[in-house]
Amino acid sequence: MIITILTLFPGLFDGFLTSSILARAIARGLIEVRLVDIRDYAKDRHKVCDDAAYGGGPGMVMKPEPIAEALEAIGARPGAVAGAGGPRVAYLTPAGRPYTQVLASELAQEKQLALLCGRYEGVDQRVIDAFVTEEISIGDYVLSGGEVAAMAVVDSVARLIPGVITGDSLEEESFASGLLEYPHYTRPEVFRGVSVPDVLLSGHHEKIRQWRLRKSVEKTMKLRPELLESDSLPEEARELLGKIREEGVEDERNQGA
Ligand code: 6GU
Repeated sequence: MIITILTLFPGLFDGFLTSSILARAIARGLIEVRLVDIRDYAKDRHKVCDDAAYGGGPGMVMKPEPIAEALEAIGARPGAVAGAGGPRVAYLTPAGRPYTQVLASELAQEKQLALLCGRYEGVDQRVIDAFVTEEISIGDYVLSGGEVAAMAVVDSVARLIPGVITGDSLEEESFASGLLEYPHYTRPEVFRGVSVPDVLLSGHHEKIRQWRLRKSVEKTMKLRPELLESDSLPEEARELLGKIREEGVEDERNQGA
């Protein structure tokens, strides 16, 4: 898979692309990440990429021409629909569709993905209308630009590419099952007077599995009850949920406020 990031701040990605799991995936050729500095496509001597907004108001808007040319240089075409040959072009913006694990899995199927990072007040609407196949937000808060969001997308997509993550850890992760993950422990067995739960030392694999599932369901009930409404919740989790509800578990989110 080739992911191309279009940004005014390519330097922000240096450490991100050269560390840890992602660096290894790139070195092994499982994923290729290309950086395009939008400023390289600015026409004038001063490489200006932003301008005042028509209609007035505070802040600057990213000019359409450098972005359009940068996108065309990577094979995107105006009016192209996703899947018509060119890359899928996602624009990272707080006004986008919420980014989820489901969307990450969908993007991980693509051969080519372009991520357009906005800065300032955003990008001229005409370039969005012509080239962008989807607008993505990583959460309900405002970042200074799309770069941090693009890193979240690249990281979450990369770990879904076959071979990037080894072993069973992918299936065990939060959201893979629609539940939050159970708590983890490692040595020492007693840390500052607190012991690891007995069941984890028992060697009884089925009991451990059931304990972990219960912890996952309880945690999801407390922190993200809306996740439990999903139709894809595994049957065993659904049954356990009914049982725990009978026992009564408090919604703790509003406590301690
Ligand atoms: Cl994708 N961009 C910006 N600038 N802020 C955000 C975001 C994206 N997602 C959440 N906040």
